[in-house]
Amino acid sequence: MNLIPVAENLWTATQPFSYLGLEVGTRMVAVRLSPGELILISPIQMQATDCSSLNSLGTVNHLIAPNQFHHLYLSQAQALYPDATTWGVEGLADKRPDLKLDSLLNKAGTFGEELEYLPFKGFGALLPRGICLAHETVFWHRPSRSLILTDTSFHFDETFPWVTQLAARVMGSYKVLKPSYFEKLGSRDKAQVKASVRQVLAWDFDRVITAHGSIVETDGKAQFTAGFEWLLGETL
Ligand SMILES: [Fe+2]
Repeated sequence: MNLIPVAENLWTATQPFSYLGLEVGTRMVAVRLSPGELILISPIQMQATDCSSLNSLGTVNHLIAPNQFHHLYLSQAQALYPDATTWGVEGLADKRPDLKLDSLLNKAGTFGEELEYLPFKGFGALLPRGICLAHETVFWHRPSRSLILTDTSFHFDETFPWVTQLAARVMGSYKVLKPSYFEKLGSRDKAQVKASVRQVLAWDFDRVITAHGSIVETDGKAQFTAGFEWLLGETL
């Protein structure tokens, strides 16, 4: 695992990941709170050898599956950090009864003074098996003015394989921060999504970190807004 510093007390690590035949990668975010607690959002594949680099940053106290989909490597992380609290979202316990989930991310809250989160209600995705509510959680790292998303927006660019770039161009989302048509079609309750977007826009952020795609380092708030104006079909 290659932990990349993004800002003070904020790191990311990525690994290859394929979805519908496209290489889209997946990203974990590590946040250190002031007492030295470490929070891992969307843990990626981990070996015992990865623990030394994580442990050098802080004490891993929280493991987070921030939506219905980013739980694939959670059990590995739990095995390495059995004392950490595992957080999941609505429906995940039914989907993954094998996972031990300690807490539920079903309402707005905070981790320390630095990290706020809220459920991004109404947001869904059209999957091969039909429409599925994602039960997304979005996070705001206040000190670095970073919005941490999972699948609520994507940002593919020239760092991805050409087939992924081509698919992003066809979808009108190459080098653009936005959800895809799958989320536009899968998010039926636009009023709920709009209310969630307004909550996010109340946060002061410039950087946007997604699970799939490159990090948007500046102007993220305007780009996030434009992406959801497209999804909602109205000006925010
Ligand atoms: Fe994802």
